[in-house]
Amino acid sequence: VARPDRLDDVAPIPIKGGRVSPPEGVDLWCFFYGPHVPPGPMDELSRAYDALMTEDERVRHQRFYFERDQRLFLATRALVRCVLSHYASATPAAWRFERTEHGKPFVVAPGEAPTLHFNLTNTHGLVACAVSHRIERVGVDAENMTRTGETTAIADRFFSSSEVDALHGLPPSARRDRFFSYWTLKESYIKARGLGLAIPLGQFSFLLDDGDDIGIRFAPDLVDQPEPWRFRLFRASDIHMLAVGFADERGGQPPLRYARFVPLVGVEP
Ligand SMILES: CC(C)(COP(=O)(O)OP(=O)(O)OC[C@H]1O[C@@H](n2cnc3c(N)ncnc32)[C@H](O)[C@@H]1OP(=O)(O)O)[C@@H](O)C(=O)NCCC(=O)NCCS
Repeated sequence: VARPDRLDDVAPIPIKGGRVSPPEGVDLWCFFYGPHVPPGPMDELSRAYDALMTEDERVRHQRFYFERDQRLFLATRALVRCVLSHYASATPAAWRFERTEHGKPFVVAPGEAPTLHFNLTNTHGLVACAVSHRIERVGVDAENMTRTGETTAIADRFFSSSEVDALHGLPPSARRDRFFSYWTLKESYIKARGLGLAIPLGQFSFLLDDGDDIGIRFAPDLVDQPEPWRFRLFRASDIHMLAVGFADERGGQPPLRYARFVPLVGVEP
């Protein structure tokens, strides 16, 4: 039975002299930013993160009403910039991004940097970035499970009928974990496709109860094939569920690597 795995069991991303060789599969970088980007006036590290942003990002940063959303935004910008610089000679401040019409950011400069595909997720306490070199369709989603809200009511409304049935078939104590498992997996898929909520959430289903691997099935209207897709589900912390999904046209089992990372500081034990 597929259960959330432990990130500590994933092979570490090898960092040598500040550089990382392009991944065969997908590299997952997690930043548990709480203690590093504390509330209150900016400390030295937060100011260093602030200095990495473009003017445009700084304007967006200032626009957040709640301080906790500002901290999350700052942590996200610092993470993606510092992570990408491990794969190229560009400095963290040099990266420039644009967004697709559906909002998915991608790298536009510096032009001499190798092709890097990435996807970001941010939730209170955790920011994550998935990076690949060869695999274009990569998506990551993390959710803070302390958020309140009627989980089964959301599932009934948005999940597929097989997911709803599986959820209701579980003892009530197991439903919350399963709800966030489906949620993060579904988000990782729509983020890998880059289409956001333009993909109806009820038109694809995750299979978590057959075999060790996480399966996906598509309704006929959703034009996609399950074969190239790989999904992993992690209990990233006591309160965070995280899913990563990627489609490798070459097939096989592209490896996942992991680092628990603090931008401008390094890997955390
Ligand atoms: C925007 C969306 C792609 C992800 O939203 P989310 O899960 O709330 O937020 P996440 O933190 O996981 O992801 C946000 C990041 O994804 C990236 N992103 C934005 N649009 C994207 C897209 N179309 N495809 C892939 N990635 C996208 C961005 O980097 C963004 O962060 P940034 O704006 O700080 O750069 C979209 O799926 C959405 O709006 N979801 C709403 C959540 C929901 O109702 N889910 C239903 C339960 S299953």
